[in-house]
Amino acid sequence: MSKLIVRSTIPSDIDRLLRLQASVYPNITPWQRDHLVQQLEVFPQGQLVAVLGERLVGCASSLVILWDEWSDEHNWSDITAAGTFSTHNQAGFTLYGAEVFVDPRLRGKRVGHALYEGRRRLCRDLNLRRIIACGRLPGYHIHASEMPVELYAKKVLWGDLTDPVLSFQLREGFRYCGIMKNYIPEDDESCGHAALIAWVNPDFKPDVGTLLQRPAKIADNQKGTA
Ligand SMILES: CC(C)(COP(=O)(O)OP(=O)(O)OC[C@H]1O[C@@H](n2cnc3c(N)ncnc32)[C@H](O)[C@@H]1OP(=O)(O)O)[C@@H](O)C(=O)NCCC(=O)NCCS
Repeated sequence: MSKLIVRSTIPSDIDRLLRLQASVYPNITPWQRDHLVQQLEVFPQGQLVAVLGERLVGCASSLVILWDEWSDEHNWSDITAAGTFSTHNQAGFTLYGAEVFVDPRLRGKRVGHALYEGRRRLCRDLNLRRIIACGRLPGYHIHASEMPVELYAKKVLWGDLTDPVLSFQLREGFRYCGIMKNYIPEDDESCGHAALIAWVNPDFKPDVGTLLQRPAKIADNQKGTA
């Protein structure tokens, strides 16, 4: 049995990533190849894949943002600059989860957990304050005629219902912070909505800045001068 590895995405993963994404979201507009190329150029550390032997079985992609600029309201397209990540801001303190998916044939085998571990490791390594994401709510369409999305999310929190994405994220230690409406309007399963979730880095050191904010210092450290 091959070992599951989470590693940085490399350009030669892109074709397989696009194929996997198309199988995960048959009804949502897929990423374009040049978007993935841009994501890797803009913030290579933030792009992770899960690999089982030769098989690419999942991905988690992130960027860094200044949360205060986005916290009131945003949608996926604006905060990720339509998937190009040109909104990535080295001055930010927040790792923003733009995407996570696992091969449908391998769900429930802790691939998603390994990818989230990779994200938490990155957040700690870069000394970022937190991870924030807006998670899809793909179970909501089944209940949409009975209740508003806010009640649906509460019922997932209370354990009355399970949602394929929010239940996973709660299990991974994220806190539910509210609903982001019209986050991905074409996401029919979630009726366009998403759950705003956050994980706070317990090791964040506020006095030293993030690693991305002090590239000169890192370069100096690597030279052994400071
Ligand atoms: C959400 C997703 C990434 C989860 O990946 P996964 O590999 O199936 O999840 P894991 O096996 O790592 O699960 C981790 C934990 O969450 C729990 N969990 C996962 N899915 C769950 C569900 N539907 N209901 C309840 N708990 C769930 C698991 O039981 C596991 O708990 P454990 O720690 O006790 O073992 C995957 O279902 C997916 O790709 N979904 C489609 C794409 C998508 O919508 N992504 C979200 C974008 S916002």
